[in-house]
Amino acid sequence: MAEDLQIASGSKEEQYSTLIPQIKALLAGETDEIANMANVVAALKEQFGWFWVGFYRVVADELVLGPFQGPVACTRIKKGRGVCGSAWAEGRTLLVPDVELFPGHIACSSLSRSEIVVPVSRGGLVIGVLDVDSEKLNQFDEVDQRFLEEIVGLL
Ligand code: SME
Repeated sequence: MAEDLQIASGSKEEQYSTLIPQIKALLAGETDEIANMANVVAALKEQFGWFWVGFYRVVADELVLGPFQGPVACTRIKKGRGVCGSAWAEGRTLLVPDVELFPGHIACSSLSRSEIVVPVSRGGLVIGVLDVDSEKLNQFDEVDQRFLEEIVGLL
């Protein structure tokens, strides 16, 4: 697929529902995980315009920065550290409405106010996380969680 992304307006559900088939088409036939992660973050950034969207991949005993869109970011995060390392350790999505209230939050940018981190799993093992940051408080909710988990499941 080499066409432009079709950007949807309307409710968040409508935006995700337009985006997901396009992400499926982008991933179809491509087995390279980094290429696929790169297109997923580009598509999410283009549709929603969030401050920072990116993957961290599990490499040995750390998360290492992967494909992302947004300002430069921290490159390595230990298991159990910050929101990303906690989502990895706990193997579940973490919704953080106010990053200042999350003990141990890692501030790659002082502009980030809220965050969602979704683990990427393979055969029951976490192989990375999708991290999305917003400059607004309370940006993400269970709707984002549901759709972002679906998108990460396409990888
Ligand atoms: N805030 C994250 C670190 C990654 S950046 O936001 C891009 C955390 O606490 O794990």
